[in-house]
Amino acid sequence: MDTITIHDSTFRIFLQPGEIHDAVERIARQLNNDLHDKDVIFLVILNGSFLFAADLLRNYHNSCRISFVKISSYEGITNEGRIKELIGINEILEDKTVVIVEDIVDTGNTLDCVINQIKEKHPAELKIVTLLLKPEAYEYPHKIDYIGFRIPNRFVVGYGLDYDGFGRNMTGIYSLVE
Ligand code: XMP
Ligand code: MG
Repeated sequence: MDTITIHDSTFRIFLQPGEIHDAVERIARQLNNDLHDKDVIFLVILNGSFLFAADLLRNYHNSCRISFVKISSYEGITNEGRIKELIGINEILEDKTVVIVEDIVDTGNTLDCVINQIKEKHPAELKIVTLLLKPEAYEYPHKIDYIGFRIPNRFVVGYGLDYDGFGRNMTGIYSLVE
C-alpha cells in the first residue's frame, strides 16, 4: 500500500517494512555489543514504541530486564513549568544501565521529562534509543545514543505511531501529504 487515508488525511509510504527491519537489526547489534557486560533494564515508553520494542528486543540476546512506562496525559504545572508524569516505574533503577526505548523524538520535550524523572532514581548510566528523530525539531542537548532514522519535520504514522489512535498496526511508516 503506497498511500493510506486516516480521517481526511492522506499519508504516503515513507519507510518500507524492510528498511525498518534493517535499522532495527542494526541497533540490536550495537546494543548486543555495547551492553553485554552491564546490568541492563530497558524502559519502553508506551504506547508508540510497542512494535519497535518487540522487534528490537527479540534481537537482543543478553540478560536484561524489560519494563513498560507511560507518560500520563495529565500535565501538572510546577515551578519548572508543565511536566508530564512518568507512570509505571516500579523497578529499582539504582546502579543499573537504563535504556530508554522511544518511537520518535520530535522537540524532545517528552524525552527530557522522562530523563529527568529517571535520573531521580540514580541509575549508573542512561542510554537512549529512538527509532525516529526529527533533527530540525529537536531542542535539547541530551545525546541520543542509538537512532534508527533521522527524518524531516513531517508528521508520520505506522509501526506503532498513530494519528488519533489509528495507524499503529501498519507495518511501514507513512508521512502526511500536506
Ligand atoms: P516531543 O515533541 O515531546 O514529541 O519530542 C514526542 C511525542 O510526540 C508524538 N509525536 C508524533 N507522533 N507522529 C506521531 O505519530 C509524529 O510525527 C510525531 N511527532 C511527535 C509522539 O507521541 C512522541 O512520543
Ligand atoms: Mg512516544
